Amino acid sequence: MTILVTGGAGYIGSVTTQLLRARGEQVVVLDNLSRGHRDAVASDIPFYEGNIGDRDLVTKIARTHAIDACIHFAAFAYVGESVSNPAIYYENNVEQGVRLLGALIESGVRQLVFSSTCATYGEPQRIPIDEQHQQLPTNPYGWSKLFLERIMADYDRAYELKFVALRYFNASGATADRGEHHDPETHLIPLVLKTVQGKLDHVDVFGSDYPTKDGTCVRDYIHVLDLAEAHLLSLHYLRAGNASTAINLGNGQGYSVLEVIETAREVTGAEIKVRMQERRPGDPSHLVADSSRARSVLGWQPQHADLKEIVHSAWQWHTKQINQT
Ligand SMILES: NC(=O)c1ccc[n+]([C@@H]2O[C@H](COP(=O)([O-])OP(=O)(O)OC[C@H]3O[C@@H](n4cnc5c(N)ncnc54)[C@H](O)[C@@H]3O)[C@@H](O)[C@H]2O)c1
Repeated sequence: MTILVTGGAGYIGSVTTQLLRARGEQVVVLDNLSRGHRDAVASDIPFYEGNIGDRDLVTKIARTHAIDACIHFAAFAYVGESVSNPAIYYENNVEQGVRLLGALIESGVRQLVFSSTCATYGEPQRIPIDEQHQQLPTNPYGWSKLFLERIMADYDRAYELKFVALRYFNASGATADRGEHHDPETHLIPLVLKTVQGKLDHVDVFGSDYPTKDGTCVRDYIHVLDLAEAHLLSLHYLRAGNASTAINLGNGQGYSVLEVIETAREVTGAEIKVRMQERRPGDPSHLVADSSRARSVLGWQPQHADLKEIVHSAWQWHTKQINQT
């Protein structure tokens, strides 16, 4: 049993690859390194530098390594960028994603764990958000993921592709040797920690007039190790012959942007300069998960749900990076 991990050189993909290996799974990584890092994948793991849309390459990997399941992380994932440049989101996430699905099916791979997102829900009609909530994205990134969910459902009916669409809320935190490292960085916790390290002058807070407790956006932060664990459980679920499904992954606890910054102040002991900016297009006010299905269907139990622990793990990783450079 060998698993193809697309996007395994990225943040969540690299942590999941490491966990899979530690649990005795055979893994192969495919990543074009457009946003990932070669050194995030251990050198003894088979690594292919290439595009998920390269059907010949995917077919060759599937044949060479007898792939029987795929965890598909590879995508572009910045909401703001998707609003200003939707073409690259539809080309990379949808067009290339469809070619990947085609190559997998052609190669006899019928089990897929897909990185979907809470951005497929759009502006919440109720909080917490469960999987039955309407999906009406407010940005092209969310649409690109929803399109792939839709396509996978049709491929299940026609070609028996069994999938788990994991709708993550905000991935965060780090392990001892793998963390969040994007360029440019758009995610809140790394931006705040870079400000503490003096790499940035201040943190921009986009919108202070949302209908939330302090006017800033509220999000549900989930530790990357808890996310990784859910991928392994999803593979077990598929291997047991279960039906395709969609599952939220969050902690069910919402924190505002200002609360996250305050937590980072407590963790690091540093003052953090904040600048209030206008709202960004495409940002819903609240995104908080009802993840009871992850518990009941997958048997998932988050082990690192505390925001302080999440920020602390990210801070330790950031500190280590600066000491190594
Ligand atoms: N980070 C989050 O909070 C979050 C939340 C919800 C969903 N997701 C989804 O999880 C997945 C992983 O997110 P991440 O934060 O680790 O992102 P990331 O950018 O760190 O990792 C994505 C990886 O995919 C690779 N990639 C992109 N397009 C590719 C292509 N066409 N062919 C081959 N490789 C390609 C990149 O080089 C990168 O290594 C993405 O699909 C993202 O949409 C992330």
